[in-house]
Amino acid sequence: MIGIESSQKSNMPRHILLINGPNLNLLGKREPHVYGSTTLDDVIATVKSQALELGVELETFQSNHEGAIVDCIQEAAGWGPTVKSDEIKERKKVSAIIINPGALTHTSVAVRDALLGVDIPFIELHVSNVHAREPWRKHSYLSDKAAAVICGMGAFGYKAALEFAAKHMEVREDKR
Ligand code: DQA
Repeated sequence: MIGIESSQKSNMPRHILLINGPNLNLLGKREPHVYGSTTLDDVIATVKSQALELGVELETFQSNHEGAIVDCIQEAAGWGPTVKSDEIKERKKVSAIIINPGALTHTSVAVRDALLGVDIPFIELHVSNVHAREPWRKHSYLSDKAAAVICGMGAFGYKAALEFAAKHMEVREDKR
């Protein structure tokens, strides 16, 4: 189902959603020895201009709240509590999700269930190398279902994830 393709099959631009979870609004200020000095605003500006070059539509979302992230994932499929039924047909479906779930990586069955529920392929992303840190950070509720997992590349990981999502990730025709 999810694999690697060298090019897009459809002429429709891919619609990619980047989600950042709790405390990622503090990138650049928070533990810079672990997460670096690039702010989330810098990351978003970089990937927005990269998206233009790649010819994909990029939407970004950050929240410190688990439920808001679950809502955002549901809305990516045209579902969710804020979407009225007559809007569903009109909404653009998201082709792929890039998610840095922050600490929710290690705790959230709800985020896992939302991603599996919408059946949109996703990339799990971490700025730090979670495998070289506290042992409990090695466990992720998402990795076994992710199309790809990126960690330890610092802020560059966002660029790598976007290029993969735009050019190489297999997505479903009805979600392009
Ligand atoms: C993180 C790693 C998580 O373990 C941590 O809770 C975060 C950030 C990262 O980007 O390296 O908040 O996802």
